[in-house]
Amino acid sequence: MTTPSPVIETSGLTKVYPGGVRAVDDLELVVRAGEIFGLLGPNGAGKTTTAGMLTTRIIPTSGWARVGGVDVVARPAEAKRLIGVVPQTNTLDRSLTVRENLYFHGRFFGMDVRTARSEAVRLLEQFRLADRADARVDALSGGMAQRLMVARAVMHRPPVLFLDEPTAGLDPQSRIALWEILGQLHGEGHTILLTTHYMEEADQLCDRVAIIDQGKVIALDTPGALKRSAGAETTLIVSTSADPTALASLLLSEVAGVLDVAVVDGRVHVGVHSSQGLLPLVVQLAERNGFPLTDLSVTEATLETVFIRLTGKDLRE
Ligand SMILES: Nc1ncnc2c1ncn2[C@@H]1O[C@H](COP(=O)(O)OP(=O)(O)OP(=O)(O)O)[C@@H](O)[C@H]1O
Ligand SMILES: [Mg+2]
Repeated sequence: MTTPSPVIETSGLTKVYPGGVRAVDDLELVVRAGEIFGLLGPNGAGKTTTAGMLTTRIIPTSGWARVGGVDVVARPAEAKRLIGVVPQTNTLDRSLTVRENLYFHGRFFGMDVRTARSEAVRLLEQFRLADRADARVDALSGGMAQRLMVARAVMHRPPVLFLDEPTAGLDPQSRIALWEILGQLHGEGHTILLTTHYMEEADQLCDRVAIIDQGKVIALDTPGALKRSAGAETTLIVSTSADPTALASLLLSEVAGVLDVAVVDGRVHVGVHSSQGLLPLVVQLAERNGFPLTDLSVTEATLETVFIRLTGKDLRE
């Protein structure tokens, strides 16, 4: 198997703002063709600054970045043709209708009238905005406006997409609708870099995730590997009407795959790599040894766990 070529590549990429804030510090990143890559980090981590440098909006202090093989500092105009951008704030043109926001974007990128018209219609269908085509963008809900921003970003068919906190502030339904769209774009072969401070989003959507804090990458891997690196991936929580401490010892000694046990609030927490196939074993063993079970649940480790272990703080702080 050959490794897909890098589509986004940075080395030593650094931004120090006037006043001295080191917003991005010596970033080394390789994003491969077709990946959905996530930058996950709390407020002020440097997500927007990173996306800004990669999309030619912010000039790095030092280091370099290439997108599609094009140096974004030396050849910004060329780089811009390869990228679609969904910024953190709404940048739709409020003097235009929904359809016109797409149409004029296409024209600006050199599409002929006929292609720009038909592409706008196609994207309005794909993004479920067709019935709002002639509305002013002011009249859109937050979720619709965000879908239109994504539609506009892909209008000139760029191979690489940058989305800065695409679902921040959206209700759960709109968030899921946007995740579906990003899944479709991924399926169409786009390489996608998205920033987020929602660990579920990074976990569910991204092939690989860089966890960043204070301008530095503190961990980078697939969501699964990141969670494994945090220790036990999955916790079984077992309640019994008998002695939980005795049950904990029994499970630790008798069930293969149990990594650790603890009694928390009278319930047995069992750390395992995977709960697959374990539940019937646990139930049978407990009942056979005189531990009637009153409850059993499974909790998966999250990227939040990883962040807390690495930084000692919460993603939302
Ligand atoms: N124009 C600017 N001038 C000075 N400092 C800035 C500027 N823009 C950002 N910063 C600082 O740089 C750091 C990183 O900011 P950035 O906006 O990249 O973070 P972020 O991860 O996108 O945060 P958020 O989740 O709030 O969007 C922060 O400390 C911020 O205050
Ligand atoms: Mg930001």
